[in-house]
Amino acid sequence: MIVRRKAGRRMESLRFARQFLRHPRQLGTIAQSGRVLAQKMAEEIGARSQVVEFGAGTGPVTREILKRLPAEGHLTCFEINADFCRYLKQIGDSRLRVVNDDAKNCEQYVDDPDCVISELPLTLFSKPAKEKILAIAKKCGTYIQLQYTPVLSKEIKHYFPDVKLRFVLRNLPPAFVYVCRCSDAVKTA
Ligand SMILES: C[S@@+](CC[C@H](N)C(=O)[O-])C[C@H]1O[C@@H](n2cnc3c(N)ncnc32)[C@H](O)[C@@H]1O
Repeated sequence: MIVRRKAGRRMESLRFARQFLRHPRQLGTIAQSGRVLAQKMAEEIGARSQVVEFGAGTGPVTREILKRLPAEGHLTCFEINADFCRYLKQIGDSRLRVVNDDAKNCEQYVDDPDCVISELPLTLFSKPAKEKILAIAKKCGTYIQLQYTPVLSKEIKHYFPDVKLRFVLRNLPPAFVYVCRCSDAVKTA
């Protein structure tokens, strides 16, 4: 069982690396998130149950979110890469919806999310695209963002008064997770 799980993770890593070679700027990193990082991100969702995920990739964070999501909860993943979307759909969980579209179009698909969890490579985005993502996240009230540098701090603090920056050493590469809350959000959790 453990051997099969490890082999599955290796295949997933290969799939991710293959896509990185084709679309380096879209993925932003050659390695998918490790289990510890994925768990730490998903833990930040707490009791929220209407979750959207931006840039789900092969789904390491997606699966950890689903482990914690209540039975009546919903997770909508936005992933621009069609190959990853086909793979994510195989997770086969009735609470999961996979949308093969740009995260910036999120509001066309989801009504009232209470949490955005994002692994988008935001530092590679244009200013308007980055601002659109941050504006969507602000409306939800809770925003969890993976990054590999802390350079976005100032920009994120412009949108969220309450920002905590967590450092996860046990990942390749080590990562930063922004945990942001906004009390004057349209929707608060
Ligand atoms: C750093 S990877 C993270 C993948 C996975 N969530 C993980 O943690 O390993 C970023 C992901 O965002 C996706 N992506 C990039 N730009 C996007 C966009 N505008 N809308 C939706 N997904 C996007 C990429 O295809 C890639 O799967």
